[in-house]
Amino acid sequence: MLQPTYLTETHFLNNLDLSSEIEKGLLSKLASISPKFLYDNLGSHLFTAITLLPEYYPTRTEKIIFESNKLEISEALGRKKGLIDLGAGNCQKAESLFHTLLPSSYTAIDFSIDYLKEILPQLQNKYPEIQMFGIGLDFSKYLKLPDPVPKSTHNFFYPGSSIGNFTKTEAQHLLKQIKTEVRDGGLLIGIDLMKEDSILFNAYDDPLKLTAAFNLNILRVVNSLIGSNFNVADFKHCIKINHSLERVELYLEALKDTTVTWADHIRTFKCGELIHTENSHKYSPESIKNLLKSAGFQSFHIWTDPKNYFALIYAT
Ligand code: AVI
Repeated sequence: MLQPTYLTETHFLNNLDLSSEIEKGLLSKLASISPKFLYDNLGSHLFTAITLLPEYYPTRTEKIIFESNKLEISEALGRKKGLIDLGAGNCQKAESLFHTLLPSSYTAIDFSIDYLKEILPQLQNKYPEIQMFGIGLDFSKYLKLPDPVPKSTHNFFYPGSSIGNFTKTEAQHLLKQIKTEVRDGGLLIGIDLMKEDSILFNAYDDPLKLTAAFNLNILRVVNSLIGSNFNVADFKHCIKINHSLERVELYLEALKDTTVTWADHIRTFKCGELIHTENSHKYSPESIKNLLKSAGFQSFHIWTDPKNYFALIYAT
């Protein structure tokens, strides 16, 4: 049976770096944990479940945009090129492009290599003609395609508005790195557009509490990485909509005075104190074009839905 090639996290991720990044965030006056720690195996499954919620409009809307513009999108991207999937997750979105793009190779990059190892073998079996690679990589820090990935022309695929989880400066840094790697190809990127508060509230604080579970799970990930003793039951999920920075902010709020310890560190949280865990920036078609331009991209195809909730952009 054909097997995908894996480059595991040991090539790229150093547990000491991760631990010191977490410690630095926890010991800051305004505590924070990077959103990349939301995506261990359970976190990735919880996020997949969130995408099925009727309140979480981005995934559904992006799919509608794809389906209504399939031909135009595949003509813009061109066929038989390598497809590089950033933050591949369950690889379903990329798979939906296989029939029209006929990629020569498929490289799934994700922070969680364990999740890719669950998903990719079945996909490789289904599409034996496409050479597949699974890479565990924190591409927010460093993005260079490793050697086994063929040096053909690539299209990068970054759907789901995941770029929105980076600050504008981080997003620009990542987009510049992508621009260097695309060579003659381009970037197909999904972007969530700014909209009414009520829709954002329901999407990021859903009544079924899946987003709450997704957010709280980060404390378990932190416990397993640095040996801390966070008690998930001592915190609750909460969100704020920051209009001036055009983003939804996710936090964990301490439900009582709480002390957390690990190695030779101690951090106390007062009742009501917050740990910042994620930003989800929302753009306008103009502001995202400006960001892409500042990273070196020059030409753009933009597709949106009738409500202008979401945009899909092919930038070269
Ligand atoms: C992955 N990312 C684009 C999601 C978002 O909408 O910002 C993560 C998420 N956080 C809470 N719900 C979904």
